[in-house]
Amino acid sequence: MPKNSCCEMELPETDYQATRKVAIVGAGQVGATFAFTLMQSGLADKIVLIDVNAELAQGHVMDLNHGLLFVPPVKISAGDYSECEDANIVVITAGAGQKPGETRLDLVQKNAAIFQNIIPQIVRYNPKILLIVSNPVDVLTYVALKVSGYPLNRVIGSGTVLDTARFRSLLSAHCEVDARNVHAYIIGEHGDSEVAVWSQANIAGITFDQYCPTCHKHCSEMDKEQIFQKVKNAAYEIIRRKGATNFAVSLALLRIVGSILRDEQSVLTVSTLLDNYYGISDVCLSIPAIVNRDGLSRILSIELNETERQQLQSSANLLKQTIRQLYI
Ligand code: 2OP
Repeated sequence: MPKNSCCEMELPETDYQATRKVAIVGAGQVGATFAFTLMQSGLADKIVLIDVNAELAQGHVMDLNHGLLFVPPVKISAGDYSECEDANIVVITAGAGQKPGETRLDLVQKNAAIFQNIIPQIVRYNPKILLIVSNPVDVLTYVALKVSGYPLNRVIGSGTVLDTARFRSLLSAHCEVDARNVHAYIIGEHGDSEVAVWSQANIAGITFDQYCPTCHKHCSEMDKEQIFQKVKNAAYEIIRRKGATNFAVSLALLRIVGSILRDEQSVLTVSTLLDNYYGISDVCLSIPAIVNRDGLSRILSIELNETERQQLQSSANLLKQTIRQLYI
């Protein structure tokens, strides 16, 4: 079994709990939609939008502020990196997004260079937690961790929280069971090498191997594979049609941010640095983990079958190979 990773907490002295402040770096489709989602949630007292294109951030902030009458009280402003001071969380969405036909890993050189530039400017102000969203998210989480010098609990990637949501929602539609009662995880890379943990997927504790023969649909392994392919290719399909993904990812971010701000201890498949997880070390990828006010609290050792272990290992190898090309 992989070793459980309990993290040393090195809490900075700032009193982050006084105000629940979230800074969003990158005011593109994802950053702006997340600001809109967060403002409606009542989770944050203060939201700051930061972008290299200050006018873009200001424009979004003006627009968002005109809706303040209709949402729980919140202060929204545009700012520069100094606004990361006192932030409980800095959500980093900056960088290039995928164009139709591009993979997430195709963005690595460009976005890693952007991260080498912006992470020092952000951590100068010692925000508590960095939540990495830009792609390739696993590689950039690793870059952010190394460049920031933060302990691993304070740097997490949105990872496969979105893929897990896509998986559960497709299984829900297929099985005609509320998505909240379908328990299943996508782990590994947030990308083409991601892994569906079918061996642990269950409805009311009944694994799919037990559930499917009792269901009138009599699904085959092929049906399961088709569902997984839809999960894996979801972003390509959406980007081909509308140029970017923004809504579901923003809700996934809200789920992570909520678990941090409200100390929910939720189990989420965030991207984090592994240390001997099924023999995998020194790479960031997604595994179910407990997320609380300190960021990553604990990685969970889930049981994987032989195929899933091999797939996770391949995913880790691919990410490590990509990291090696960056010379960080
Ligand atoms: C997504 O999966 C593009 O990574 C983004 O929607």
